[in-house]
Amino acid sequence: MKVLVIGSGGREHALCWKISQSQNVSKIYCAPGNGGTESIAENIDIKADEIDKLLKFAIENKIDLTVVGPEDPLCGGIVDEFERHNLKIFGPNKKCAQLEGSKDFSKKFMKKYGVPTAKYKSYTDYEEAISELEEFKLPLVIKADGLCAGKGVIICNSKEEAKDTIKEILNDKCFGDEGNKIVIEEFLEGIEASLLCFVTNGKIIPLESAKDYKKIYENDLGPNTGGVGCFSPSPLFTEEVKSKIQKNVIEKILNGFKEEDLDFKGILFIGFMILDGQPKVLEFNVRFGDPETEVVLPRLKSDIVDLFLKTIDGSLEESDLVWDDKSCVTVVLTSAGYPGSYKKGLEINIDSLDSSIILFHNGTKYEDNKLLTNGGRVLSVTRLGETIDIARDNIYKNIEKVKFEGAYYRKDITKDI
Ligand code: AMP
Ligand code: GLY
Repeated sequence: MKVLVIGSGGREHALCWKISQSQNVSKIYCAPGNGGTESIAENIDIKADEIDKLLKFAIENKIDLTVVGPEDPLCGGIVDEFERHNLKIFGPNKKCAQLEGSKDFSKKFMKKYGVPTAKYKSYTDYEEAISELEEFKLPLVIKADGLCAGKGVIICNSKEEAKDTIKEILNDKCFGDEGNKIVIEEFLEGIEASLLCFVTNGKIIPLESAKDYKKIYENDLGPNTGGVGCFSPSPLFTEEVKSKIQKNVIEKILNGFKEEDLDFKGILFIGFMILDGQPKVLEFNVRFGDPETEVVLPRLKSDIVDLFLKTIDGSLEESDLVWDDKSCVTVVLTSAGYPGSYKKGLEINIDSLDSSIILFHNGTKYEDNKLLTNGGRVLSVTRLGETIDIARDNIYKNIEKVKFEGAYYRKDITKDI
């Protein structure tokens, strides 16, 4: 089989890595890919949101299966377009992708079908939003409705800050049309956890859980990032919490899918806030998480291509997913300045790492046989371990062997559990 993976991050490197272990795969392409995918796939110079070019490539190269990494092409309707041309593609269609593409759509869905989530209200009018601000306690959360490259969520600690944020989004259009609408919601206390689920044919089948570290600095300080460390499984997912999730979240979502005629096929990523064993949903994403994928896929024993094909034809069962009992941890090396502005093109030198380390590339490229930085998140140093502590300690022993100017990483990943 020839497989095309769309995207260029650590998630896509992990997907290519796992797909390359499949018995049935003869060739992998990655568009546009990165310095890491280059070692297992052929990188193709087409961006993830260039749907027409990707379609042309898939037809001309007789691609048997396309796997979509990021949300942009999913929200742009790549699945509908490929399916119109009878091409097999893994991911939800445009209608279902609204669960990530519009915060208003996903909050309405959660409220209508009783999925526990933060109380909220949506606004398109500046005056109305300002006049109702008093109804929300501090801190409060303001979210631009559309996709804003992960920057559309602002936690406000004062009403002044909230007023400024509403003005910047609704009036000054700091996120363009993606901010034509906003959601204002209550701030939820607790600990976050991520649950990726295969969804097909009236079934939601969870993968193993993960916990993502979103803040750039130790002790969860500083601005939000795409995720700078992660581990799996999350200890918050006790049998009791899992059964609450099944009854109060998964069954409600399935009912909503049926009622709204949402034929979801692909990955539904449920972002949870868990407080005192009570799970509430923070958000839905309609794709694999990054860095969640880097810690969940090394634990998956099953052939992932088989899982993708069974999701597409609707035959996937929970028993198809076989897991390694080991834990997995990743620590992300980032460029100095990230998540703000940072330099690209810095040379990376890697001394020999222990063979147990899996090095996923997030933002790298090869130029003249040199490996260079090419993003805010650069490399994910990953390891399976009998315990989380074993995996973590070995990662921190190896991480200093990866060198580039200004390389930064959090030293406290997994230390809070
Ligand atoms: P989202 O894109 O909705 O997941 O938001 C990004 C991040 O903002 C989440 O992972 C949380 O860390 C934080 N966040 C979003 N909504 C809330 C909320 N209602 N309460 C507390 N934190 C939130
Ligand atoms: N790690 C969070 C995300 O992929 O959205």
